[in-house]
Amino acid sequence: MCGIIGYIGPRDISSVLLTGLKRLEYRGYDSAGMTINNPDGLATFKAVGKIMELEKKISGRDLAGNLGIAHTRWATHGEPNEINAHPHLDAKGEVAIVHNGIIENYYALKDFLIKEGFKIVSDTDSEIVAHLIQKFHNGDFSESVAKALELIEGTFGLAIVQKGENKIIAARRGSPLVLGLGEGEMFIASDVSAVLDYTKRIIYLNDDELAIVEKDSYSVKNLKGEEVNKKVHEIKWTLDQIEKKGFKHFMLKEIFEQPEAIINTLRGRIKEGKIKLSLDLNMNSLKRIIIVACGTSWHSALIGKHLLEKIAGVPVEVDYASEFRYRDPLIREGDLVIVISQSGETADTLAALREAKARGAKILGIVNVVGSTISREVDSGIYLHAGPEIGVASTKAFTVQVVDLLLLALFLRQEKGLDLQKDIIRNLETLPEKIREALGQSDSIRELAEKFVNCKNILYLGRGLNFPVALEGALKLKEISYIHAEGYPAAEMKHGPIALIDKDMPALFIATRDNTYEKILSNMEEIKARGGEIIAVVNEDDKKVIGLAGSIIKVPSVSCELTPVVNAIPMQLFAYHVADLRGIDMDKPRNLAKSVTVE
Ligand code: G6P
Repeated sequence: MCGIIGYIGPRDISSVLLTGLKRLEYRGYDSAGMTINNPDGLATFKAVGKIMELEKKISGRDLAGNLGIAHTRWATHGEPNEINAHPHLDAKGEVAIVHNGIIENYYALKDFLIKEGFKIVSDTDSEIVAHLIQKFHNGDFSESVAKALELIEGTFGLAIVQKGENKIIAARRGSPLVLGLGEGEMFIASDVSAVLDYTKRIIYLNDDELAIVEKDSYSVKNLKGEEVNKKVHEIKWTLDQIEKKGFKHFMLKEIFEQPEAIINTLRGRIKEGKIKLSLDLNMNSLKRIIIVACGTSWHSALIGKHLLEKIAGVPVEVDYASEFRYRDPLIREGDLVIVISQSGETADTLAALREAKARGAKILGIVNVVGSTISREVDSGIYLHAGPEIGVASTKAFTVQVVDLLLLALFLRQEKGLDLQKDIIRNLETLPEKIREALGQSDSIRELAEKFVNCKNILYLGRGLNFPVALEGALKLKEISYIHAEGYPAAEMKHGPIALIDKDMPALFIATRDNTYEKILSNMEEIKARGGEIIAVVNEDDKKVIGLAGSIIKVPSVSCELTPVVNAIPMQLFAYHVADLRGIDMDKPRNLAKSVTVE
């Protein structure tokens, strides 16, 4: 996904921009570029591929200048090539822009500009912004930017420089942008991690805000030109937290951080056997919950449905955010919409939130990234406190989301005056220890991964609370190892997928003990009878599955409600080791992005 960094100040400009771009690499990109405002005008460099390619292009050049903007591009309009890479400049080379988001009325604006005699050189929607600003140029930089923005429909996070101007202008609508405040220097970025090397003092821009940034000062205005007072946030995440801490990959580090992440999410939320959540919502009128999310967060939503219905007795519907937003959803009095998002920036989830809000729903967010757009737009929220998640495939955010949905279910039960299930609470408190035990299987899971590293397909099967874990296991494997994998409810298998079973189609069963355990055993028999190979995730003391499955992964026993959390661990480790054995950099799998901020 595209990334932006801008800098104004006394440091070596190209190295600040390159460092910022490298911090944004994890978001995924296909080309990169930068523009430096130096005494001779705007010097622009672009390269396809890794940031290293851009570095090669600028090495040995004298890049004097005190401000610049840079970008990593993830193609949406036009293929990844140098012309389409950002920054984009107007024809005179006087205005340079970097843009995240999508300009929806791009074709109309392009036609308009062409009729006015402007020459458009790239296939991007972004380039037209530079021409529009140039068109409205009247000596007042911020005024010409504001005029251009008035014409744009769609989403943008923009950083703009103009020849001869000692300032950078940033503007946001629907695509995250922050200002980093230093002493005698300022930063602009699409992501806090790009500026954390230099400052922890951050301002989050809201939609339709425009910031004029100089080296010693900044001002933020809305698009009507009115001054806006902004809060300065002190960021507590350190770069050390963001880096790999000795693990081979971010993904592995994040898998192993799960005990700590769960401790952090539980902190202060269970006191003397009671659940403490400060939700600013009236739960007395609650009649129905609708959960919307994407990807892995959607899988945790499916588990949340089971937990909320069973523990809190509230009917729950789960929808993909991308489907919800376009299906004319019915919102009634007493509905609560929960949005789940690790990043808090996923475009479809944000749009679903806004759709639900416009229809009168109250919104509760379950979000990891503090200060993210979703976290700021919800009526009330539960932060995951899972720490930064850099690996593109979500791991610790998933298990923490499930824990927080369980806390919410218990909280709603408590609010209804029903007795709290003390054994679940006790199990929650010992969960980090159980996760550590499950992580202890990493080496034996690697041996298992060696056996399956060359397979072409795997079927993941589970039931009840663990059916979404099967979906998540299959998603993890396919997204990082590129092996085709499907998750299915184990009993549903006989209505189709069983036709695929032969010796080359292994089936991975989640078969820890719960009310569907005996049923799962019969499903295994069905696979075995057809010559299929079985991998099974079982409890340590299991006796029955051992005779049926060719390969076994053992996990500690926990109360039924917590099995999805413990069972997710071998799913993550198996996918990780298979991908690593296949030589894939699973922190940045092909075609995927950590945070999908376009539709
Ligand atoms: C992308 C990521 C997934 C993530 C999904 C939803 O597809 O690659 O790992 O689950 O977005 O992201 P969110 O930040 O909203 O949870």
